[in-house]
Amino acid sequence: MFELISYEKFRNTPGVKFFDITIATSNARDLVIHDGPAISPNNTEDNHWQFYLHPHQEDNLLALSGGRTFYLVNFEWEYPFHMVRLEGNGDILRIPPGTFHRSVSDPNGSVVLNQAVRDEVATLEGEFRVYNSGTIPRLHHITSQATLPPMMHGFPEIELRRVA
Ligand SMILES: [Fe+2]
Repeated sequence: MFELISYEKFRNTPGVKFFDITIATSNARDLVIHDGPAISPNNTEDNHWQFYLHPHQEDNLLALSGGRTFYLVNFEWEYPFHMVRLEGNGDILRIPPGTFHRSVSDPNGSVVLNQAVRDEVATLEGEFRVYNSGTIPRLHHITSQATLPPMMHGFPEIELRRVA
């Protein structure tokens, strides 16, 4: 399953926030900046969702600013479809290898740092392939309105409906 990882907030004084965000096992870093309500990867021209899936990389995603919603699908999970909100200074989202994922930024964009963990056989070509849900029937079905909705995480309006 995916995980939400909290981290040490060293110091919070007026105007200053200071965090230790180290993912000790990370051996690669990438930074993805969305200027506005961007989608990554982009939808196809005929508007099918596309996804990344890393066979040999774990993602550890932290929103540095702005907000971004992640869509996660993993055929191995008991409940295969989740939506997770990331907002600046919130938890780190750990996505295990083999998970389809795409993200959509809030209208003002977002900056997300990934402290990735690549294994020894990971290659950039293999890890950053894009998968079109329009050509993968099982992925298309799980994300369609023909089946159960995604499980939502970090959406305040959803949390308010639940007992703590
Ligand atoms: Fe990723």
